[in-house]
Amino acid sequence: MSTTTTTTRGQLDLPGQTHVADGPLDHTGMYVMHHAFRRDLAAFASAAHRTPVGETAVWEALVARWGRFASTLHHHHTAEDELYWPVLAGAVAERGTPADAAEVRAMSEEHEGIDPLISACADAFRAMADHPCDAHRHAVEIRVAGLREVLDAHLRHEETVVLPLVQRVMTPAEFDGVEKAIGRSYKAGDIGFVVGWALHRLPQEGRDRMFAMAGPAYRVLHLVVRRRFERREATAFRYAEG
Ligand SMILES: [Fe+2]
Repeated sequence: MSTTTTTTRGQLDLPGQTHVADGPLDHTGMYVMHHAFRRDLAAFASAAHRTPVGETAVWEALVARWGRFASTLHHHHTAEDELYWPVLAGAVAERGTPADAAEVRAMSEEHEGIDPLISACADAFRAMADHPCDAHRHAVEIRVAGLREVLDAHLRHEETVVLPLVQRVMTPAEFDGVEKAIGRSYKAGDIGFVVGWALHRLPQEGRDRMFAMAGPAYRVLHLVVRRRFERREATAFRYAEG
């Protein structure tokens, strides 16, 4: 696991990332998303442990922030299942092996197992906000830890096996088509949050790449949404470490 941000033959290597998939296809967008999911779950785990029982407004903010996390993760997985893995499966059929095909199928199967864990966390945060007590806090901690373990394993699998597979079998044109389709799949109303969220606490190398890839409009949008994002973040994670 890396602790600093470096590049290896052009790919990002962000904190928490388990592998750098060398090759011609730029995985910046994927690594930035994975960094944000890991960062969020660490913050939620810390907030669940440290937020005082009586801080009703903070627990309500955590309920709302969990909703944002959940919808962003759900969108990421849905976009992969509908727009990315089918194209990868086609590339594997032409240029890969039966073992590669099994790895692609495993990605969607793992996503199915993650959805109920996300819902269980949402229910636990809701219960804590409605009826604050130590038992409900414990339930939040256990649910978040459970999701974190499963999501970590999934992200590791994707980074160590599937992203190198992408480098091996996908053409630049196929990859570019997937990136563009996923870019178009975001709802207009979600883009402001996702920009603030993706860049939050992202090491400078990652920010520079996102700005270079996404163009000047992305940088301007970030300037617009950043303050509001950070203000809400400070409320929800007021007691979280880090
Ligand atoms: Fe992913």
